[in-house]
Amino acid sequence: MRDPLIGLRRRLDLFGIDEATTTTLVPFLPVVRREIDSILHEFWRTMRAHPEIDRLFAGQDQYRLIDKQRAHWLSVFACEWNEAYVHRAIAIGKAHARSGGRPTLYVAGYSKLRRSFLRCAVRVFGDSAALPDILCAIEKVVTMDQDIVLASHMHRFWKDSAPGPAEPEQTPEPQAATAADPVDDSIVYV
Ligand code: HEM
Repeated sequence: MRDPLIGLRRRLDLFGIDEATTTTLVPFLPVVRREIDSILHEFWRTMRAHPEIDRLFAGQDQYRLIDKQRAHWLSVFACEWNEAYVHRAIAIGKAHARSGGRPTLYVAGYSKLRRSFLRCAVRVFGDSAALPDILCAIEKVVTMDQDIVLASHMHRFWKDSAPGPAEPEQTPEPQAATAADPVDDSIVYV
């Protein structure tokens, strides 16, 4: 199993999430703390208006899911980029793959939440010269989070939907494990 922090560091670099991003988000964190419950309730209400999404929630404890999402977003906006964060993002992708929805539904979910966070920042920091940087920082961290969660989701999605092995006509040669090998989550780490 590779070091999960390698993939995280690469992403932080690619998305341009640096010390300045963390500093920029400091004043936004208390806003998220204050607004997250209303953002998440609005999120679930809007998403559940789609029958395809509503079906996914049948039998789920909505309040448990909201609690988990709240904790996750607070950690994202606190820029807690550590191993616990990576494992949580991977667990979310796996949970989504388990629930059986198409990846597009979750991208739509991220889009909805991203817009809510951006709107919230405009409302609170509308007159501040810091607003453009705050909006860019929000965009970066939400998109990176989506990327990790989706990588984990897709890894499971393709693995679970791949056709079973055909009846071998002869004993296949043993193959070396690749980055996409389902033995671990390393595809998420690169
Ligand atoms: C419309 C989009 C979404 C749908 C339909 C959806 C649905 C679900 C479902 C059904 C589960 C429970 C799966 C299981 O335990 O078997 C789940 C778990 C979860 N989802 Fe989503 N979700 C959506 C978007 C998001 C987004 C954008 C996030 C943002 C981070 C998120 C965060 C979580 C978390 C934190 C969990 C709990 C994972 C765990 O138990 O470790 N979801 N979601």
